[in-house]
Amino acid sequence: MTATPIADASAQQALRDAMATVASPVAVVTALDGTRPHGTTVSAFASLSLTPPMILVSLDNQSRLLAIIRRTRRFGLNVLGRHQIDLATAFARTGRDKFQGIPWTPSEDLPRLPGSAAWLAAEVDTYVPGGDHTVLLAHAVAAERAPGNPNPLTYHQRSFGTHTPLDT
Ligand SMILES: Cc1cc2nc3c(=O)[nH]c(=O)nc-3n(C[C@H](O)[C@H](O)[C@H](O)COP(=O)(O)O)c2cc1C
Repeated sequence: MTATPIADASAQQALRDAMATVASPVAVVTALDGTRPHGTTVSAFASLSLTPPMILVSLDNQSRLLAIIRRTRRFGLNVLGRHQIDLATAFARTGRDKFQGIPWTPSEDLPRLPGSAAWLAAEVDTYVPGGDHTVLLAHAVAAERAPGNPNPLTYHQRSFGTHTPLDT
C-alpha cells in the first residue's frame, strides 16, 4: 500500500475547504435495480442545456447508484426542500436498503419521492470521466416543480440549511 503524498493530501483539503464555501442544492438521485428502488444524496447536479433540455449529475466511481444507472441509463432527480433533511441524511448512507420505510411512487418508471421541490426524469446520453467521479450528461424526459414554491434544502460549510432572500 502506498501513502498519499502530503502535497496531494493538502491539495485535497484545500479543495474541500474552498468548495465548502459554496451553498449547494441537495437532491436524491434514484434508479430502479430491477424492481428494487435505490437512491443517493447528491449536490453535484446542474441544469446543462435548454435545447435540448439536459441536466448533469456527478457521481463517485464507487457509487452503487452509478453501477445501476450504467445498466439502465435512466435516473430520477428529486430536488429536496428544507422539510426533507431526513431524506438527505438517509440517502447519504451506504447499502441496498436505503428506501426501507420511505414512501415513493413510480413516475416515468423511476422512484419519485413525494413532497420534493422538483422532479426530473432523465436518460443518460454520455458518461464523462472526471478523476474519481463520472459526470452523467442526460436529457430530461420529464420536469415538474411542486406547487407553492417550497424553500430549498442547501448544503453549506458542511451543514444543511436553506436560502433566505435579501431585503432589497
Ligand atoms: C450533502 C451531500 C451531498 C453529496 N453529494 C454527492 C454527489 O454530488 N455525488 C456523489 O457521488 N456523492 C455525493 N454525496 C455522497 C453520497 O450520498 C454517499 O457517498 C452515498 O453513500 C453513496 O451511495 P451509493 O453508493 O448507494 O450510490 C453527498 C452526500 C451529502 C451528505
